[in-house]
Amino acid sequence: MSAPATVPPPAPALEEMRSLLRTMSAALQTYRLYPPGHPNRTDAVRAMSEHARGMLQRAGEPPVLFVTRHSFYLGPTLLSRESLALGKLIESFERAGVEAVEFLSGAVDFDIDALAGILVGERPFEPELPGIALNRVRPVLDQVEEDTRELSELLRSYSIGLEVLRDTAARVAAGQAVDLAGARRVIERLATQVARDPSHALLVTAVKSYDEYTYYHMMNVCILSLALGHAIGLRQDQVATLGLGALLHDVGKVRVPRDILQHVGALSEEQWRIVQRHPLDGAAMLLLTGKEMFNPAVTIVFEHHAAYDLSGYPTLTGRTRPSLGARMVAVADCFDAVTSKRSYRKPEDRRQALSILQAGAAKGFDPVVVRSFVRLLGLFPIGSMVLLSTGEVGMVVRNHARLLSRPVVRLVLDRTGAPCDPVEVDLSEQAMGGGYRWSVERSMDPQELGVDMLSLVMSGQVEQSAPDPGQAGLVHEPSHGEPRPAGYVDAHLEDGGPSEQVRIDPDVSAPFPR
Ligand SMILES: [Fe+2]
Ligand SMILES: [Fe+2]
Repeated sequence: MSAPATVPPPAPALEEMRSLLRTMSAALQTYRLYPPGHPNRTDAVRAMSEHARGMLQRAGEPPVLFVTRHSFYLGPTLLSRESLALGKLIESFERAGVEAVEFLSGAVDFDIDALAGILVGERPFEPELPGIALNRVRPVLDQVEEDTRELSELLRSYSIGLEVLRDTAARVAAGQAVDLAGARRVIERLATQVARDPSHALLVTAVKSYDEYTYYHMMNVCILSLALGHAIGLRQDQVATLGLGALLHDVGKVRVPRDILQHVGALSEEQWRIVQRHPLDGAAMLLLTGKEMFNPAVTIVFEHHAAYDLSGYPTLTGRTRPSLGARMVAVADCFDAVTSKRSYRKPEDRRQALSILQAGAAKGFDPVVVRSFVRLLGLFPIGSMVLLSTGEVGMVVRNHARLLSRPVVRLVLDRTGAPCDPVEVDLSEQAMGGGYRWSVERSMDPQELGVDMLSLVMSGQVEQSAPDPGQAGLVHEPSHGEPRPAGYVDAHLEDGGPSEQVRIDPDVSAPFPR
């Protein structure tokens, strides 16, 4: 057994590996749909081989792909984004018992085709193909610490949640009923994990995606809402309802055409009208699933933009406030939306996002919910980047109940701006002669630093953030307290006459019981 590579592969080889995994994920789908010899399979093999060859050329030594701890590694380097986004591909490797793939210099189409066949279960496991060796080496990873294991469990739930949302979108597109059982299982897992360690859970919500903005947004809002529900002491059944409503709050956006969701520049009145239909469409999708007469999470989906003072949309009649669940999700929704890039403005840092919520309290947002949320996230919210008095940059990973300005921070960059060891320092600890060794100077925008939050959260490694595709304007309806983007039309106000209003029976709809 030869020793696995311990030297990090060069950046271009990593990029090729990332592309290979994404291509492979789509290719396995082709393998499941088309028989051997089908031209679509041939195209898929060609695409995979191209990246495999590119990687071999760019890597110093034959690269090894490890699949372990439900994650992908190229040599010792964690491929964080692919590990999170390609959960189904990881499962294919796990089911086939493939833990290490060595691409030898002679890897050709035949080997790639055989590997794909093994991964979809149509060929038996073969340890030695002419150009690829399977499971010949084992990963050398550090001892799994308790801390790391919990985080990777959380990220696995996140990955499963993304799959559930993709599956939901595919079902809706195919005119099928939404399957709530999968969503419920994710909520159950997440609720337990959030209750066990809210700080870790909040850290995970710093993860964003350009490609699948809406799914990551729904996952983040779900985790933030669960943490809030846990913090204010909701009952378990209420937390389950809250989590389900939060996870699916934007499910109606499946009906919004992709070109509108990714539109660059101002939307037309018609486009805004379509975006603003998503609470109604989402609620209708859940009501029409047919399996249950009524699910209280529907109310949360329906009311999440209604606003505390009912100035939002759709117009609610028959009640004085949106339900508590919807008021909680509205706060989590705004926090995640304003910290994400949208077509009309840059992301706010997490601290600034809390100020936006506070400015909207009693208008767009329930002031009591906002106060609980601010207390939960802390003065420097978990997942924020902060500049320290020593010139070092760190990420807030935990807050103290007192000494709010002195969180626990994981060091990220040294004073020269170079990546440093991800050591955690507690800013509340005093130096030998009294006084504090570190203080927070100010919070920083991760974009300004050009640091990829996902790899930071998952592995403590500093990687440059993925290039901003620029093109893709990520539309999210503006939150309360934010200046309206150019061209914004509040469609519900313009034609929201009595016939357009939707009456909800407050006795049936209120989560949680009043
Ligand atoms: Fe929404
Ligand atoms: Fe949302």
